[in-house]
Amino acid sequence: MSVTLSPRALMSLLANGPKAMDVLETALAVGLLDALEPGPAPLGELAERFGFLPLRLYKFLDCLESLGLVTRDEAGDEITAASYRAVAGLRDAVAAVVGPDSVERDRDRYPWRRLHGRLAQSLRGEVGMTDDDFAWPPRDDEQTASFERSMAVGLGPVLETLHRHAQRLWPQRRRLLDVGGGDGTLAARVLDDAPGLRADVYNLPAVAPLVRATRARSGHPDRLGFVGGDFLAEPLPRGYDAMAFVRVLHDWPNDVARRLVEKAYAALDPGGLLVIGEEFRTPDRLAMQFFWSYFLIGVDSCVSRLREVEFYTGLLKETGFTEVAVLPGGWELVTAYKPATGG
Ligand SMILES: C[S@@+](CC[C@H](N)C(=O)[O-])C[C@H]1O[C@@H](n2cnc3c(N)ncnc32)[C@H](O)[C@@H]1O
Repeated sequence: MSVTLSPRALMSLLANGPKAMDVLETALAVGLLDALEPGPAPLGELAERFGFLPLRLYKFLDCLESLGLVTRDEAGDEITAASYRAVAGLRDAVAAVVGPDSVERDRDRYPWRRLHGRLAQSLRGEVGMTDDDFAWPPRDDEQTASFERSMAVGLGPVLETLHRHAQRLWPQRRRLLDVGGGDGTLAARVLDDAPGLRADVYNLPAVAPLVRATRARSGHPDRLGFVGGDFLAEPLPRGYDAMAFVRVLHDWPNDVARRLVEKAYAALDPGGLLVIGEEFRTPDRLAMQFFWSYFLIGVDSCVSRLREVEFYTGLLKETGFTEVAVLPGGWELVTAYKPATGG
């Protein structure tokens, strides 16, 4: 189901956002979402099963329906006969937003309040994040650890897509370089699905201890490595038949993104695979990126440029890559190969 609300209606939901979150947290906590997702669930049965008063539950379910999260089939005069079904995947989506490993909870740790209520001054450049608040790239060990933790928390959908396509991506590959590869969480998970692969994380030297810790926790300490470097200042290391940029290129302006893809082309072995996982510009992804769009208004060094997938497929072809493909998934991936005869 997809519901497009008028701007006026959307604003009513936004103005009541904390109440909407209360409804979602409650629905998750009491187990109502588990009952609603298989559906159709008659209100009378739900009320009896959960010990709720039917009319109160009816209004509670109206709140969920107003959010576009349940559908209702009203059979007759009695509200108890109305039956409800949650949209597919609702329980997992709510758990991802309000559960213990919630990305949104993690984001709330950042000093976004520095801008709150002062956006006009911020837009004029009078107010912004200081390097103590948030420097890009992170400035010290504490900021590095905090930022890479946030990134690892948000990896779920891209890990799901990588897992889904593992048999297509890795069997022919020997060495992967995950460029800007965070604390190594993604590389470690790729290795779970690719027994013949070794992976190195390429990242700023300050990230080395975080990757060491990931390696120690992972099941593949002998296959996960780290290469320290600065991709803006130097060529990418050679000797890899696969490279990945996951949520790296959107941090930079177009000319830098282009240069990084060219560096990957130059460094990859002939026949090498490049995987790009990005914050592609779709209505869904823009919405899920809302926090960073807002927060980074105060951080001029990070461009946060969400681009349509076509920017990347076009860039790969212009650079000389072939077999450019978009692999479907929670977050789709772009793949391409350097020609076997390429220089
Ligand atoms: C948005 S994070 C994405 C991390 C990880 N790939 C993920 O998706 O969770 C961008 C990554 O680029 C790295 N990075 C930023 N500037 C870099 C540079 N000049 N050289 C190498 N890595 C850099 C950061 O340290 C960080 O790990």
